[in-house]
Amino acid sequence: MKIVTAKDLTKRYGTFTAVDDINFSIERGECFGFLGPNGAGKTTVMGIIYCLMPPTSGEVRVFDVDVGLDPSGIKARIGVMPQDDNLDPDLSVFENLVVYARYFDIPPKKAGQLAAELLKFVELTGKTDSKIKDLSGGMKRRLLLARALLNAPELMVLDEPTVGLDPHSRHAVWDKLSDLKFRGTTLLLTTHYMEEAEKVCDRVAIMDSGRIIATDSPSRLMDTHGGSLEDVYLKLTGRRLAD
Ligand SMILES: Nc1ncnc2c1ncn2[C@@H]1O[C@H](COP(=O)(O)OP(=O)(O)OP(=O)(O)O)[C@@H](O)[C@H]1O
Ligand SMILES: [Mg+2]
Repeated sequence: MKIVTAKDLTKRYGTFTAVDDINFSIERGECFGFLGPNGAGKTTVMGIIYCLMPPTSGEVRVFDVDVGLDPSGIKARIGVMPQDDNLDPDLSVFENLVVYARYFDIPPKKAGQLAAELLKFVELTGKTDSKIKDLSGGMKRRLLLARALLNAPELMVLDEPTVGLDPHSRHAVWDKLSDLKFRGTTLLLTTHYMEEAEKVCDRVAIMDSGRIIATDSPSRLMDTHGGSLEDVYLKLTGRRLAD
């Protein structure tokens, strides 16, 4: 079954077209990655999938339901790790999780247990009572990952889950994502780290200026275009990752 399908999806901000008539679908259990330079439209696509904003035109179905029809039903089944940290700075690590659990009507006692389990999963048990401002960037990313898992989502939407992390923390996060995939969770992510996309993603869509210019498994893209996934990316977008 398809977890996400987008048909002729377009998103405009005023007169500016951020996503330009794209088509893709994501299978259950798949890890699907959006790759592309800054401004390509990746975050916009994510936002439409998790019902943050509506498409301008085209059809997007998540769990075979139109995003315009039942956004709260869809949101309840998705875990979101946003590109920007939106943790509550006035609350502790533990409180951030417990308060967020209210959005999903998880009773307080259950929420507390879950929070403790998830903090263990992301290796932040030692920071349970810390304030957000006392966390490193990598710890915040891991807490965002834990928060995204509170509702036991069938689909995880991860917008640059490893951005700004040192190699060790990056590895730790990718390990957790592999765990989740092994347990059957569908993963949709964006990343600028090609070698990781190559390792973790079953398929990737390469975006540029609002369009998808290629969709395939990393190995087939590399066979077709030659070189590493980074070479393919450079060939197709004409841009280096650092740009
Ligand atoms: N709320 C908004 N209002 C107006 N323009 C927007 C808005 N959000 C995004 N854009 C524009 O839409 C385009 C796509 O932005 P988006 O954030 O989806 O790109 P991205 O691929 O996620 O980039 P990055 O790799 O930098 O995260 C950009 O040109 C951006 O300036
Ligand atoms: Mg983005």
